[in-house]
Amino acid sequence: MESISSDIIVENPPQEMMKTKPNDDELGFGTEFTDRMFLQEFKGGQWQTGRIMPFQNFSLSPAALVFHYGQAIFEGLKAYKHPDGSVALFRPEKNAQRFHRSAKRMMMAPVPEEFFLESVEKLVALEHEWIPRKLGTSLYIRPTMIATQAVLGVKPSEEYYYFIILSPSSAYFKEGFSPVKIMVSDKYVRAAVGGVGDAKTAGNYAASLYAGYLAKKEGYSQVLWLDAKENRYVEEVGAMNIAFVMDDIIYTPPLRGSILPGVTRDSILKLAPDLGYKVKEEALAIDVIEEAAKSGNLTEVFGMGTAAVIAPVGELKYKDDVMVINNGEIGKITKDLYDNLTGIQYGTRDDPYGWVKKIQI
Ligand code: COI
Repeated sequence: MESISSDIIVENPPQEMMKTKPNDDELGFGTEFTDRMFLQEFKGGQWQTGRIMPFQNFSLSPAALVFHYGQAIFEGLKAYKHPDGSVALFRPEKNAQRFHRSAKRMMMAPVPEEFFLESVEKLVALEHEWIPRKLGTSLYIRPTMIATQAVLGVKPSEEYYYFIILSPSSAYFKEGFSPVKIMVSDKYVRAAVGGVGDAKTAGNYAASLYAGYLAKKEGYSQVLWLDAKENRYVEEVGAMNIAFVMDDIIYTPPLRGSILPGVTRDSILKLAPDLGYKVKEEALAIDVIEEAAKSGNLTEVFGMGTAAVIAPVGELKYKDDVMVINNGEIGKITKDLYDNLTGIQYGTRDDPYGWVKKIQI
């Protein structure tokens, strides 16, 4: 199942097809794509030769399994241009591992981790001129796998597309690095233990849309999910993991199988203690958070994700309770973590962890 050739064929787009690169100040998130993409097909029980080719549409049978039963997984990571002109990825091996795990959970053909890394690096190297330079911008990398076999039986596909697209992007939230407003869902849930909440599979995101729509109608950008069993313990936000600062301790829910094991979450759990902060992975009940907000002990809330980076939360709404966090302003710890994490990512601070992976361009 895992046999893969590491030769990658490169087919460059003709000069006249090359797009004009956007200005760093005009970037949104995930709206523009570079000139090339990577594509590799799995069929006949093995991965075929991978190809870097001009960014283009797919032609798939309407019976392709992905359209019917949702066998689809993806990843998100970023490439940064450092001040010395070099190109860096941030902990890409974590994405390679998670992509492999997600594939197994979804009964898809796993991509060997070293090949995932090679395909990402080779594509980014060819497209390095698309990496924006401004702090807060980066080249967002979206490796994806979909089931392409044309058959209507509910079964694992025997054919897949593994592809990578690249998007020069700015902040995920329109607020940028400014506090976002989040609504706690007391009715809908994202994932149950035993389900696929810890796999990065497309359906988890589709399942979040209705509650997201209801939250947006009330002026909130995202939904904070509670656990599916007791509807009491906070889980994650969908586009990011979540942390609460109470009594000067940073709390984040533990990985119990229903939460996505975020790369940024993992990095903060390692970085924060080295900056002198106490961190605890602990189940957090929403009523305990409400109490802490009332007594003034809840001083900061922030999200952690590749796209979201560190996102300060300025307001949390649960049922009729509106909790304003830190007067709706960015907290000191949140800012310190943001500065240190992005400093490592953008190459302006030392990287004692070996998280930054420079690639040959
Ligand atoms: C990421 O942070 O890279 C993600 O994949 C989240 C996505 C919803 C933008």
